[in-house]
Amino acid sequence: MFRINDNFTKLPASYLFSEVARRVNAYAESHPGADIIRMGIGDVTRPLCQAAVDALHKAVDDEASGETFHGYGPEQGYSFLAEKIARYDYRKRGIEIDIDEIFVGDGAKSDTGNIGDILSTANRVAVTDPVYPVYVDTNVMGGRAGDLGADGRWSEIEYLPCTAENGFVPALPVNNPDVIYLCYPNNPTGTTLTRSQLKVWVDYCREHGALLLFDAAYEAFIREEDVPHSIYEIEGAREVAIEFRSFSKTAGFTGIRLGYTVVPKELKGLDDKGNKVALNGLWRRRQTTKFNGASYLTQRAAEALYTEEGQRQVKETIDYYLENARILREGLAEAGYETVGGINSPYIWLKTPGTMTSWEFFDYLLDRYHIVGTPGSGFGPSGEGYFRLTAFNTHENTRRCIERLGATDRK
Ligand code: MLT
Repeated sequence: MFRINDNFTKLPASYLFSEVARRVNAYAESHPGADIIRMGIGDVTRPLCQAAVDALHKAVDDEASGETFHGYGPEQGYSFLAEKIARYDYRKRGIEIDIDEIFVGDGAKSDTGNIGDILSTANRVAVTDPVYPVYVDTNVMGGRAGDLGADGRWSEIEYLPCTAENGFVPALPVNNPDVIYLCYPNNPTGTTLTRSQLKVWVDYCREHGALLLFDAAYEAFIREEDVPHSIYEIEGAREVAIEFRSFSKTAGFTGIRLGYTVVPKELKGLDDKGNKVALNGLWRRRQTTKFNGASYLTQRAAEALYTEEGQRQVKETIDYYLENARILREGLAEAGYETVGGINSPYIWLKTPGTMTSWEFFDYLLDRYHIVGTPGSGFGPSGEGYFRLTAFNTHENTRRCIERLGATDRK
């Protein structure tokens, strides 16, 4: 009889956010009157901005006429969008990225998960802890994680703790990993690294021949000066880093899906004969084979975000969420919670009170206040005793959330 991929059977029964949704739905069913405020998964609440809506309508009209109809597009994305990305997301910041180094996809979750296809299963992986669970789970699926220990750690993954003790700044690895995942602004802690802190990682990767998988999905939330928007702001990063970007949180594309991945041409890894091979070509081969391109409609909508009007509207939306982050940060402090994040990020990471575990606090918040967040331990062992709230709800619900916790927005 055929065999399955046994690695899947090693995974916890469900993905973190599916488990949160399952518990919340069960609670809602048994408490029909409960007015639940959802601040769990980082899903947005603001509608698409007008520039994107107009572009979508226009793109639908294009598809309605034989003359302007688009069928299969280029698997790596239309050049009309890649050109805007290269110009506005990179050249404007003094970074040169060629359009054939940009691969438009259906979101950073898929790309950070799929990138393992082009990497040897023999690579040793390091992740910050806590971490976006997709990096770990997809390495389990790919056979790079070893076995799950009683301490919640996978035997072959190196964990780089980010805790209050080290100011949520990960130390460099000690086991010489081949692949390192970093996400900044960080999901889940909402913290950032400065230019000089990020340089340490790029230098490390150059020295050790390691690949840096840099997830910049939350870059649009950066408001402080010394926080790089792209890993390529750091000298030498083109030789070692792949960058993932997303339109989900930037422009409310969680439902319509779009992101992109940058694979610089200088970036090379070894094959089994010791030859250096460019990852750009491998990722292109992977995408052209397994992916048929993001939809024409979505790419036209994203293109419109780069117009003057689009940029203004995107900033307005991000400012809206950052205001929620401020309300949460200040309100939680007033209610006696210790928090980090929420300055250049939509995520607030808070210490659970007393000795409560993350899941105990989840149940407590849900049952007592009808507030949903995400238990820190779901993001990794060092997340135990922490909890994540998102700033993606409405102003009104965000204020109601802190009022339920005994605080008021004083602004
Ligand atoms: C999160 O809540 O961490 C994210 O929304 C999940 C995602 O982007 O896939």
